[in-house]
Amino acid sequence: EKGGWSSFMAKEINEEPEAVLNTTLGRVHEGVVDIDELAGLDELFARIDRIVVVASGTAAYAGQVGKYAVERWARVPVEVQLSHEFRYSDPIITPETLVVSISQSGETMDTLLAVKYAAEHGAKTLSICNTQGATIPRESDAVVYTHAGPEVAVASTKAFVAQITALYLFGLHLARVRGTLDADAIAAQTEELLAVPAKIRQILETETAEVARLAHWMADSRAILFLGRHVGYPIALEGALKLKELAYIHAEGFAAGELKHGPIALIEPGQPVFVVVPSPRGSETMHSKVVSNIQEIRARGARVIAIAETGDVAVLPFADEVIRIPLAAPFFEPLLAVIPLQVFAMELSSAKGLDVDQPRNLAKSVTVE
Ligand code: F6R
Repeated sequence: EKGGWSSFMAKEINEEPEAVLNTTLGRVHEGVVDIDELAGLDELFARIDRIVVVASGTAAYAGQVGKYAVERWARVPVEVQLSHEFRYSDPIITPETLVVSISQSGETMDTLLAVKYAAEHGAKTLSICNTQGATIPRESDAVVYTHAGPEVAVASTKAFVAQITALYLFGLHLARVRGTLDADAIAAQTEELLAVPAKIRQILETETAEVARLAHWMADSRAILFLGRHVGYPIALEGALKLKELAYIHAEGFAAGELKHGPIALIEPGQPVFVVVPSPRGSETMHSKVVSNIQEIRARGARVIAIAETGDVAVLPFADEVIRIPLAAPFFEPLLAVIPLQVFAMELSSAKGLDVDQPRNLAKSVTVE
């Protein structure tokens, strides 16, 4: 079943290019995004004034990445709520609220209850789900399936990139319906999206050995930190989550700008820190701020592993290690930067002799509250 791979996780990481590609199939036609499952919802999409994403764990981080793109493209405020917090926060729900749930399994009890709560309080609900006919899509007004294929390893990998892909397609569909992006702008984004699978494949081919080497020398680490900014911030959170669940190492993700507000006190000589570096082509300012963050932690002895685009030489004087990702427009960097972090957690887990597919204390789908 593992098709020659050492674990389901290794197999599923290798399937990420197809997970992205298959999620786009039939939804992008010559630069136009049209999702069949959303036909008939134009009137709703034109009048919504707020989107609330409900999800947990990795799916919630996909929501956080998607928030930036959907807000930019469709000009609707998006907030991301952990599904288990949602019902207890007396959320503001109106007929103009769209609640978007994200769930690989479609069975996560907290997310299901959030969707039911939203519907009972008058919201329209849209499910982004990887499992045909699961409970959450059945309880929702509409569903956009991710086509990652069945995910067996407990740690989510290919479903995560498929969830971001589905959110981006949804954002572009919404932008067309709402008239917030012109056809050329939508076509440019679809071109970037369709280029992602080959770029993921390239990372898997060129960076895996290096990442495995890093995992081996970090196998005895007590704590590993992750920094990112903008769409790189949820990627830092996801990198930390993968490491906790798979390698049982304390890991934390921070927004790079928060460093000086506290976390920098954690830096002592030898502390490994992964930094997701945004492209200088996206925002010169943001790139140089992250490079300054690297300098600040390096001056305090951190061992910096930068994930930076090919050709970014600004990181070279300061980073101890550089993992390269191909050039992509800013919104598409998360789909690339997450790959080495997933591989790192998997390699570190196996370096410690742990069960990569079935970490202790965890279940693939959490069907209790
Ligand atoms: C982490 C992981 C979990 C799930 C979360 C939601 O690797 O897999 O954090 O993302 O339990 O599960 P679904 O997407 O099935 O609702």
